[in-house]
Order: sequence, then structure tokens, then C-alpha cells
Amino acid sequence: MGSLFCILAFALLLPLACATSIKYCDNSGDYVVKVSDVKISPNPVVPGKPTTFDISASTGQNLSNGKVVIRVTYFGVQVHTETHDLCEEISCPITAGKFVLSHTQSLPIFTPPGLYTLRITMEDELNQQLTCISFNFSIRFGSLVFNS
Ligand SMILES: *[C@@H]1O[C@H](CO)[C@@H](O)[C@H](O)[C@H]1NC(C)=O
Ligand SMILES: *[C@@H]1O[C@H](CO)[C@@H](O)[C@H](O)[C@H]1NC(C)=O
Repeated sequence: MGSLFCILAFALLLPLACATSIKYCDNSGDYVVKVSDVKISPNPVVPGKPTTFDISASTGQNLSNGKVVIRVTYFGVQVHTETHDLCEEISCPITAGKFVLSHTQSLPIFTPPGLYTLRITMEDELNQQLTCISFNFSIRFGSLVFNS
């Protein structure tokens, strides 16, 4: 996932490119769905416009149903959650192997400067976690660095 770190740091206009990284929520990364890359467009993010995340991943099993949960925390406090039907974002069933999930993110605009963490989780129909990735981004001086 090396290039992913840099792409995201760039997309989010972070001051220290590549100092921020994508992590699996569970350090072992022992998930049914493995994420190999995330492409963000537009890149750089345009304030006030929706941003699309193309998440390249592979699944070890067929997926016929599930959901995508986005959580945003601000200094560790959850400030936003949204849940989407997996099959609204990609045509189901997803057969075992590689796939690309396109997610257009429409988080509210955050004005308080500080450290935010965005966490993207995929769950199957039994609420079992299929994968979970997270990354940090920062907003400084109340300016909009990442609004998607
Ligand atoms: C996944 O779906 C494909 C196509 O429908 C099928 O051929 C395959 O046997 C399924 N695999 C599993 C593990 O269920
Ligand atoms: C985000 O920042 C927190 C606090 O500094 C840190 O513990 C965590 O590892 C970071 N997460 C990522 C994905 O870099």
C-alpha cells in the first residue's frame, strides 16, 4: 500500500506528504477483504464538491450483501457516521477476487481545525467485519482541507 499513503497525503493536501498513512484498523490486516489501493478524485480535493474514493480490493469469498460504514472522529470523538448498502455502491454479487468499490463521499463541511480520522468499514449481512481501513487528515486555521 506504499503509493496509497502518498496519494492520500497529496489528495488531502497534508503538509507533510507521506507522513500520513492508511492503516488497517486491526494491525494484523487479517480481513476477508484486502485493500490494495485507494484512488481519490478529484485530486486535489475541490472544496464544496463531492469526492470519489475508488477502493481497489480483493475478497476471499463471494459477497452478496453487506454495508459500508464511514465514521469520522475529531480528536477521537465521533462526529459523523453514515452507512451505505454495499450493493448500492457496486453491483452484487461480488465474486471472490479483485473488485473496485467506488464511493462518493458527502461528509458535512467541518470547520474546527484539528486532527480527524476517517474510518471505512465493510460488513457482510451478518454484521461481520470484512475490512476496515482508517487514515488521518488535518484541518488548519479553520480552512477547508478536506470536505468530501
Ligand atoms: C462464487 O460464485 C461463483 C459464481 O457464481 C461460483 O462459481 C463459485 O462457486 C462461488 N464460490 C464460493 C466460494 O461460493
Ligand atoms: C492517526 O492519529 C492517531 C493519533 O495521533 C494515531 O494514533 C493513529 O495511529 C493515526 N492513524 C493513522 C492511520 O495514521
